Amino acid sequence: MPVSWRFLSRFSRPLVGVALVLGLSACTSDLPQTTLYPKGTSASLVHDLLQPIFWTAVAVFVIVEGLLVYSVARFRSRRDPKAIPFQLHGNTPLEIAWTIAPAIVLGIIFFLTVSTINAVGDLPKSANAINVRVIGHQWWWEFQYPDLKLVTASDMHIPAGQTVAYTLESVDVIHSFWVPQLGGKTDLIPGHINKGSFSADQPGEFFGQCAEFCGQQHAQMRFHVIADTAADFQAWVKNQQSLPPALAGKAKDGADLFAKIGCAGCHTIAGTNAIGLVGPNLTHFGSRNTIAAGVLANTPDNLRAWLRDPEKVKPGNDMSAFMTTTVKGWGASAGQNIDLLVEYLTSLK
Ligand code: CUA
Repeated sequence: MPVSWRFLSRFSRPLVGVALVLGLSACTSDLPQTTLYPKGTSASLVHDLLQPIFWTAVAVFVIVEGLLVYSVARFRSRRDPKAIPFQLHGNTPLEIAWTIAPAIVLGIIFFLTVSTINAVGDLPKSANAINVRVIGHQWWWEFQYPDLKLVTASDMHIPAGQTVAYTLESVDVIHSFWVPQLGGKTDLIPGHINKGSFSADQPGEFFGQCAEFCGQQHAQMRFHVIADTAADFQAWVKNQQSLPPALAGKAKDGADLFAKIGCAGCHTIAGTNAIGLVGPNLTHFGSRNTIAAGVLANTPDNLRAWLRDPEKVKPGNDMSAFMTTTVKGWGASAGQNIDLLVEYLTSLK
């Protein structure tokens, strides 16, 4: 006995330490991936389901563990190791009771779950719902607004308070569309179209994340949903539908360089000869908050770092080999050329 106590105390301290670190790491005010503070209809329905199930589970845990701990303490072996407590194996009323009780609990959970699944799939589809075609790529998000005739990436703008009806498609492997505070977590399956809808209660910015392992940069396959006021959304749409402004100076030189080195093979920029469909549409690149699929803030410095060595930012991405070769070929003028590209891309507001 003394040996096991020493053993326990020796290992319990580090174990308690690890548990504390893991537990306390959840104590932060910045919780982009929490589902516990829903900010939209779909996420609220799921949250309303979580509450009764969680508290039911707590009650079951307390009752079952309480009986277990009580039995262990009350009926523990004392002086006479051969003495065993009263045995009640085969007590029919008791057997029936603990079969029926869990069945009732599970029946209630089943009913609540099915109701929620139906409610989430049945969000009021108002006539003015915004339709968005979400397309997953390794490893970035494309957002097409077929009715508004615009295409963007990484930042998904929606009008707050309005239902957003989205379809989910993938061009390569299975991804999963998830905005913890709004809803989703629905797979994007190659060759199959899934559907869903959500709405944001208030204007704000919401973190989105691919929730299905899809390769090397799965964790960095992020996006942001930006819920605008109606007026801001209209302004955003109007801007996205317009062509980029006329270019001059360094931005113009950057545009020429962009065309010359072959960026157009993968990217589209409306109003130019760039019509590639492999990478994100860059028509209004400068108006986005983030680059590299929500990983970096869209600042000139971050863009410079991204263009100079994309592999360093997101290992395995499709642009790495191309940019490494291009930058190497530029030799001493690499910095200057990257500056020109940055001037051009940031001018695409
Ligand atoms: Cu896409 Cu994980």
